[in-house]
Amino acid sequence: MKLTGKNVVITGASSGIGKNLALQLAKEGCSVALLARRIEELEIVAHEVSKYNVIVKIYKCDVSNKDEVEKVFLSIKKFFGSIDIVVLNAGVSFRTDVRKDESAKAVQTFAINVLGMIYCAGQVVPDFIQAKKGMIVGVSSLAESRGFPRSGFYCASKAAASLYLESLRVELKKHKIKVLTVKPGFVKTPMTDKNEFDMPFIIPVEKAAQIIIEGIKKEKNIIQFTCGAVLGAKILKALPNWLFDFISQNQLKKPLKK
Ligand SMILES: NC(=O)c1ccc[n+]([C@@H]2O[C@H](COP(=O)([O-])OP(=O)(O)OC[C@H]3O[C@@H](n4cnc5c(N)ncnc54)[C@H](OP(=O)(O)O)[C@@H]3O)[C@@H](O)[C@H]2O)c1
Repeated sequence: MKLTGKNVVITGASSGIGKNLALQLAKEGCSVALLARRIEELEIVAHEVSKYNVIVKIYKCDVSNKDEVEKVFLSIKKFFGSIDIVVLNAGVSFRTDVRKDESAKAVQTFAINVLGMIYCAGQVVPDFIQAKKGMIVGVSSLAESRGFPRSGFYCASKAAASLYLESLRVELKKHKIKVLTVKPGFVKTPMTDKNEFDMPFIIPVEKAAQIIIEGIKKEKNIIQFTCGAVLGAKILKALPNWLFDFISQNQLKKPLKK
């Protein structure tokens, strides 16, 4: 797919992978609509994007709030006319302590990582079906492969996101709409900066954005990276439970970061 001139919506564009996607897609000649809760961070991203002489608009939007999502997508459609690609990237990750009631973190994780994705996809699918074109890029994670200790809500939310995206891909195929599921390994962003555990095969965020853009251009169904992280996830998935449990115990030895 040629990206020049495409109108791209990116959720979670105020930092990390979303911010870098905004910059690199703008460099490719895309107009971008950038969504996040922190408007002042979006303003900084928009300023950086504007050097590529493309149209950039920012929208304060909490993707877990359905009314807000509907209003923002209406504004985007009014301003841009139509949307070609939507990147559903907004996400949160909490480390959890099983000794406490952390259900509020579970609610937030599922509301943003799963429902947020569903609300945003719902705003473009009917238009894409009518236009018989469009692409949905959903950012899941290799963390979906097992239930990692202290990351139960996150792993479960990403497993839900991956399966949702898979079903969307199959359903939308006949309408000529592409659905790309992105499953990154560790990427250096503010999300991972707070992790207290070792992160093998971690890559710079610019590299992650570059890989995702290549996947969009090639209209892939699924991209997972890096090779080392994918192999690691496959091995962990294939392990018998007793061995996975034994290896995972090591992660619990380090204290949680505040
Ligand atoms: N970093 C990794 O190793 C890694 C690996 C696999 C998958 N991922 C996934 O990649 C995506 C981006 O993560 P990242 O690493 O770039 O983390 P990040 O730097 O923390 O970025 C997360 C983005 O999501 C936005 N966001 C969070 N809650 C939101 C909400 N309710 N409404 C709208 N936007 C919201 C944040 O903006 P505001 O706070 O301004 O709203 C921010 O722009 C996430 O889905 C994450 O799960 C990351």
